[in-house]
Amino acid sequence: MPVIEVRHPLIKHKIGLMREGEISTKKFRELTAELSRLLSYEACRDFELESCRIKGWCGEVEIEQIKGKKVTVVPILRAGIGMLDGVLDLIPSARVSVVGIARNHETLVPEPYFERFVGQLNERLAIIIDPMLATGGSLIATIDMLKRYGCQQIKALVLVAAPEGIKALDAAHPEVQIYTAAIDSHLNEQGYIIPGLGDAGDKIFGTK
Ligand code: PRP
Ligand code: URA
Repeated sequence: MPVIEVRHPLIKHKIGLMREGEISTKKFRELTAELSRLLSYEACRDFELESCRIKGWCGEVEIEQIKGKKVTVVPILRAGIGMLDGVLDLIPSARVSVVGIARNHETLVPEPYFERFVGQLNERLAIIIDPMLATGGSLIATIDMLKRYGCQQIKALVLVAAPEGIKALDAAHPEVQIYTAAIDSHLNEQGYIIPGLGDAGDKIFGTK
C-alpha cells in the first residue's frame, strides 16, 4: 500500500477544521498551508544526513546537514498551488515544476493542459502536491509525465485521499509514497470525496 496516513494530533485537528461547511477562503487557505508544512515534515523524514565541520562561535563544530538532495516540488494546477508556500517554507531551496490538469466534470478523466518541468529530473526527488486524491487520475497522469522525463524518485502530498484513488495508484505506481492527512470513506456519483472537503480548488481560489 503506497499511502501513509499521518496520524499526528495537529494534523487530525486541522483536517477536521477544514471540513466545516461554511469555512472562509482565508481559513481554508491557512489550514491548507499549515497541513502542507506538517505533511512535508513527515515526507522528508528519510532524507539522508552527512556530517560536516563549520566554524562555530567557540571554534570548530561538527554539524549534520541534508546530503545534497535535489528536490522539485510539483503543484498540480490549480488547487496544488494552495499547498506550495507551505512546502517551500520547509524546503526553501526546492525548484518548482508545474503541471496543469483539469478533471473533466462529466467523465472524471484528467485532461492535461500545461507542463513546465525544471532540469535534471533524473537526479531529483519530485514531491507532487494536490489537496485531493479522488479517482487518482490526475496524480497518475502527473507521475506518468515525470517518469517520461526521467524522474525516478517521486512522493506525493495530499490532504484527503479516497480509497478508490489509493487503489488506482497502487495498481499504476506502487512504489510512489503518498502522504495524506486523512483517508476518507468513498467517492460519490459526481466523483467527489465523501466526506471530503468539497471542491478544494474553488475553496482555495474563492471561485463559485
Ligand atoms: C481536483 C483536485 C485534483 C483532482 C482530483 O482538481 O485538485 O487535481 O481534482 O481528482 P482525481 O483524483 O479524480 O483526478 P480539478 O481538476 O477539479 O481542478 P482545480 O484544481 O482547477 O480545481
Ligand atoms: N476534487 C476536489 O476538489 N474535491 C473532490 O472531492 C474530488 C476532486
